[in-house]
Amino acid sequence: MANPLHALGYRFLNTSLHGDSPDSENPGRLSRRGFMLLAASLSSCSAAGPPKPPPSGAVKTTSNSNYRTPPIHGPVPRNPDMALGSEFSKSSGVTFSRVLVSGNYVAMTFDDGPHPQNTPRLLDILRARNIKATFYVIGRSVDLYPKIVRRTVAEGHEMGNHTHTHRLLSKLSDSEVRLDLSRCRDAVERAAGVHMRTMRPPYGGLLQRQRELVHAEFGYPTILWSVDPLDWKRPGPSVVTSRILSGATSGGIILSHDLHAPTVDAMPATLDGLLRRGFKFVTVSQLLAMKTATATAQAAVTPANY
Ligand code: NI
Repeated sequence: MANPLHALGYRFLNTSLHGDSPDSENPGRLSRRGFMLLAASLSSCSAAGPPKPPPSGAVKTTSNSNYRTPPIHGPVPRNPDMALGSEFSKSSGVTFSRVLVSGNYVAMTFDDGPHPQNTPRLLDILRARNIKATFYVIGRSVDLYPKIVRRTVAEGHEMGNHTHTHRLLSKLSDSEVRLDLSRCRDAVERAAGVHMRTMRPPYGGLLQRQRELVHAEFGYPTILWSVDPLDWKRPGPSVVTSRILSGATSGGIILSHDLHAPTVDAMPATLDGLLRRGFKFVTVSQLLAMKTATATAQAAVTPANY
């Protein structure tokens, strides 16, 4: 049977995606306390400290299996191949915060994972709705939870590079930027055997000159966002939902964080609300591939705490 990931343009390396084999490349497991300390030490998107366990009344995943992620017509983008380059990424533009498309398509994006509890819970919610999303992962966490990354890829979601250490890249030298991106790239390749196609800079902070360097050397367009629910401030799930529903527009790229339990709590109502409004979900690369010839909308965004 044809692997559906090929239809998404994933290029496979040697790693099995199905996670049956032990994590021989997993360099070591941290205790939960170790993880919490590590998470606290990250220059996290959150001003609210390390991730908390999910609330006792965990959100029920409702079944909404009628929805199908739409098929993508036209050329399917290939992953950037570091050796061969990528026509897709070269022709796609350097920076996007939304994409001009015809049709009610949006891309849900989730940053700062994988998280040992929240990401699997989110994957269940997405799977119940047949929705594909894009995960901008931190390489350091990928090394801790490679099985979650394998599951994410196996379920048809797209991975994006959010650097290895989540530092503000605009303060770093070119060689430090290269190192932080390549370490995340290598971690995802080790974990799931796929190349990432796009990157999102932590805090949205990347100088224009750096964006061009990253595009030229890694083939990554810089992906920002058109909708920001400020979920890292933990305003409560209903506020996250209403901000996303009021901000979503055709071609939009919606920012949120699977690092935070309340964000995942907000997702059933958010996704169902978007579905009711007629939105169709695609990954970021799929959205870029749908770009109409007229040009890219590059809405101004103010880099902040992401
Ligand atoms: Ni982030």
